[in-house]
Amino acid sequence: MKKLVIFASGSGSNFQAIIDGIENGEINAQISGLISDRIASGASIRAKNHQIPFLEVTKKNPDQFLNIVSEQLAQWEPDLIVLAGFLRKVPDEIVNRYSGKIINIHPSLLPKYGGKGFYGLRVHEAVLESGDLITGCTVHFVNEEYDRGDIIMQQRVDVLENDTPEELAARVLKAEHQLLPAVINKLLKQLN
Ligand code: GRF
Repeated sequence: MKKLVIFASGSGSNFQAIIDGIENGEINAQISGLISDRIASGASIRAKNHQIPFLEVTKKNPDQFLNIVSEQLAQWEPDLIVLAGFLRKVPDEIVNRYSGKIINIHPSLLPKYGGKGFYGLRVHEAVLESGDLITGCTVHFVNEEYDRGDIIMQQRVDVLENDTPEELAARVLKAEHQLLPAVINKLLKQLN
């Protein structure tokens, strides 16, 4: 059975979409564990509810963070690492060690509205300000640069007249919940 490790700091709704994908048979894998950089995040609570091991690493010191996370990953032996709303930059050492095996989900059609500072509602505010009629979400491989690794798959979402950033964010998030399990499924099959 292929093993996933999820990194998430926030509400964890994408993490939940992965849990659901496994429970309904769309994804043939198990989740070895969750890494969160916050205490009692929504994601940690979901892990607890589903008896998934989780590690909360709140250490600010980059070396400590690297050591703790590296050790945990060595134990969990992931085939694929999924960043699902993880706000801290993953250390380059880990990105290089698991090169081609770390993916991230981002709430825009990259390369648009990506990079430092583009997270949360800011992404959707920028889309609305631009006048773009289409936005969406992207799953991409992670490299050393924020949101700049190779794109694996995208899903488009229409921007509606009079959308607020919150309304647009909610529709994009729904699309994310479809896209992320589909990409995980595809990549795990390629690993076979
Ligand atoms: C999502 O919009 C994702 O694209 C971004 O962070 C958000 C996480 O949301 N990277 P959730 O915690 O999965 O609900």
